[in-house]
Amino acid sequence: MGEAFDHRFSQFAPEDIPVPSPGLPATTAPVAPASHKDGVTADARGKKVFASACASCHGWSGESPVSPMATLTGTWAVNDPAATNVAQIVLSGTKRHTPDDALSIPAFGDAYSDDEIAAVANYVTARFGTKGSKLTAKDVAELREQTAE
Ligand code: HEC
Repeated sequence: MGEAFDHRFSQFAPEDIPVPSPGLPATTAPVAPASHKDGVTADARGKKVFASACASCHGWSGESPVSPMATLTGTWAVNDPAATNVAQIVLSGTKRHTPDDALSIPAFGDAYSDDEIAAVANYVTARFGTKGSKLTAKDVAELREQTAE
């Protein structure tokens, strides 16, 4: 039992996150508006998931109110049009070993459907990145399978 747990996290060691993808833009998107009413509003479902699961730590601007480490603006993950890292982080969370055992992101894989995870990943890349993404529920299902292996 312990082995399965360790294996899961060993796949997502902090030094592996984010994994830069080729073809990313040289410039990153500016900080998003502080209010959820401004900026990207298109993906209502993604926005709803973000509001309930992510905004408390990451903020609507992408500049985290709780930790500079959790600032999304300018990260590789949100500028990757494939959105693989974003979806994987939402599915599995991260576990960074800091001296004070600070904040890490919880795994939301069990709490949300493939569809909802795709929606929130697309919302995050559209709001905080330069290109946005078009992740589907099927893509998320495949990522889940890879993670479970
Ligand atoms: C309890 C606070 C918390 C919540 C809730 C949370 N996160 Fe995070 N998130 C963090 C922290 C802290 C980091 C930085 C972790 C690290 O570097 O190990 C992070 C990192 C990330 C990253 C990687 C950024 C990078 O450096 O590339 C993404 C993407 C992300 N979160 C998206 C989300 C999404 C989407 C949600 C909602 C489904 C969410 N987070 C919910 C705290 C949180």
